[in-house]
Amino acid sequence: MLSRRDFLKRASRAALAASTALPLTWAADEFDLSIPGKEGLIVRSYRFLDLETPVEYFNTWLTPAQHFFVRNHMDEPSTLDPAEWKLSVGGEVERPFSLGFAELSRLENHSVVNTLECAGNGRGFVDPKVPGVQWQKGAVGTGSFSGPRLRDLLERAGVKPTGKHVMFRGLDEVPGKVPPFIRSIPIDKAMDGSTLVATRLNGAALPKHHGFPARALVPGWIGSASCKWLTEIRVLEKEFEGNFMSPGYRVPNQPVKPGEAVKPEETHSLTELNVKSLISTPADGASLKFGSLTIQGVAWAGEADLVRVDVSLDGGSSWLPARLANDHAPYAWRLWTLRWKTPKSGDYVLLSRATDSRGRTQPASPLWNPSGYLNNALDQVKIHVQA
Ligand code: MTE
Repeated sequence: MLSRRDFLKRASRAALAASTALPLTWAADEFDLSIPGKEGLIVRSYRFLDLETPVEYFNTWLTPAQHFFVRNHMDEPSTLDPAEWKLSVGGEVERPFSLGFAELSRLENHSVVNTLECAGNGRGFVDPKVPGVQWQKGAVGTGSFSGPRLRDLLERAGVKPTGKHVMFRGLDEVPGKVPPFIRSIPIDKAMDGSTLVATRLNGAALPKHHGFPARALVPGWIGSASCKWLTEIRVLEKEFEGNFMSPGYRVPNQPVKPGEAVKPEETHSLTELNVKSLISTPADGASLKFGSLTIQGVAWAGEADLVRVDVSLDGGSSWLPARLANDHAPYAWRLWTLRWKTPKSGDYVLLSRATDSRGRTQPASPLWNPSGYLNNALDQVKIHVQA
């Protein structure tokens, strides 16, 4: 028997799934609309599923799968039987082939700890507002991804000298006229020893929301490069032309004024991530007891190395170096902490600022672009310290 509450829960889920409406605050107060296995995440969209991680969860080096954000452009595949699944490798190659999951699993495995961030993370803070999922801070997470190197599959197929880009196709269910999720990466990145066909996340099979049975893993690059539910790898002579390469995931070649229109020919495809940091504790708006406080967070730098994090306790007038935690890997974020003895009661604006091995650092406010991509402005948390 369904309880009245369960019935309402299911009915409201079904109604929401049938709509594209995003704001759920009215419903979330009344019903528990969390996604099974993803409890606690912020639902940015039910159709198609987009889940954001609350920043408070960013207190471990590896983000547990149940806390890992989800970004889907369309419906997830409804049936995925690993016994039936096939991955084909073709295009500009000498020996096209396809292989099943059992064969893929027998290939030599490699692990890469990678910070995966959606290019739209932070879009909700850009001004003027731009269309798209209004992500705030948590369309990012760090996982240990494992699987064969993409390079091993490409070498088995024998890439022809004409092969310059590698295209991935996902098995997403494409609704109506929506173009399929297909993107490509340049051959050099595809042949890099850290680029994987990942079958595992944090030591377990890749969960369905994250691309089961296999996904591309393009470390240090925007999340959209890492195609989920991979079914086809195709070597191309040039960059793939399609919605998710253009107009999707492009930014102006030159900085533009907020609100300014940009011609498509004056844009380029996004590749690697920016340098960026987040404050995970204390929470924005927290009211804390006077005394000792540990401020903590995460910071990452795409393909570069993160070298330092500075924290301001006075809205940016002065900065103190944070301590970086020991866990680190080439494409992974680092946890950081700063111990602070609050000087007196009152309101404080805490800021964090990361710097990487190339000298890149974070701007004070978002650098506007028409899609609100790669917003890496300083993170800010306002707190009240009680007497
Ligand atoms: N792959 C497919 N097939 N379909 C998608 O919608 N979304 C991309 C990428 N791979 C997507 C995809 C985007 S925009 C991001 S940010 C990452 O997957 C998110 O990965 P996650 O959902 O595992 O966190």
